[in-house]
Amino acid sequence: MKVSSNKITDVYAHYLAQLSVKWSSQESTGILKQFFHHFLQIPPHQLVHNFEKRISESQLLLIHFAVKDLMSNKPIQYILGVTSFLDLELHINENALIPRPETEELVSKIIHQFANHHPQRILDIGTGSGCIALALKSKFPESEVWAVDFSSSAIELAQKNADALQLKVNFLILDILDSNSTEDLPEKFDLIVSNPPYVLPSEKPLMQANVLDYEPHAALFVPENDPLLFYRKIAQRANASLTEGGHLWFEINENQSPAMQEMLQPWFQFTEVIHDFRDRIRFTHSIK
Ligand SMILES: C[S@@+](CC[C@H](N)C(=O)[O-])C[C@H]1O[C@@H](n2cnc3c(N)ncnc32)[C@H](O)[C@@H]1O
Repeated sequence: MKVSSNKITDVYAHYLAQLSVKWSSQESTGILKQFFHHFLQIPPHQLVHNFEKRISESQLLLIHFAVKDLMSNKPIQYILGVTSFLDLELHINENALIPRPETEELVSKIIHQFANHHPQRILDIGTGSGCIALALKSKFPESEVWAVDFSSSAIELAQKNADALQLKVNFLILDILDSNSTEDLPEKFDLIVSNPPYVLPSEKPLMQANVLDYEPHAALFVPENDPLLFYRKIAQRANASLTEGGHLWFEINENQSPAMQEMLQPWFQFTEVIHDFRDRIRFTHSIK
């Protein structure tokens, strides 16, 4: 069915009906208001006042494809091209994982831990959109922050976020699984943090279609036969490059917690596992 006219009231009614097939009427209204705001710069509280106005064909197409993408499970963050992380607004695209609330919690715990003695040098491994590195830099402006990812398109996005936020982070393309690729990093860090890929392929049936179909699999999955692959490589590196008393923080798969502790304990003088807001084991914190 076609939209009956380009009048906002008709466009609104048409796409509200489409969205309501999948979402509640309240959710559909919220989504549509976000689209009108983002694509046509009409703030939610102004929408009703603009009902009699007409929009152009190209404006109509923007709304049309946004609704179509959403109906086919594309995450709204990828459709809008923006997401939030703590108090930062970030650009996001399909080259990087959409930052999760658990990762916000990880960063918030680190910020709390370092409230009185900011780390001098920080390394974020598997930076994706740059969310962790940028949030830490915004809270610890004097810290020197480094962030690496093996995906050049993720690094490009992270750099775009840094530029937009005017935060200086040193982004590098680096494959953490390749032990030779360390050349451009400083020798020592006071804090290393990582949210590496940690989902097992056998856990796919538990995942939502919008994650599986749209988010980069290289950001999600670890080989079934070696769930700690990234953690082991990163812990090895951290063991060599953390200052004495330096901190290593991980976001982890709750099912791997005993194995993680066993792996970390011989290398660090202290290791604790920490629950997230859903009361699932989600983080480890080790001290060198
Ligand atoms: C779970 S995502 C985390 C992204 C971001 N830090 C966050 O918390 O939203 C894991 C990241 O690790 C990166 N990655 C995967 N394999 C890698 C490798 N071998 N070396 C470096 N980074 C890698 C992916 O590109 C992805 O950006």
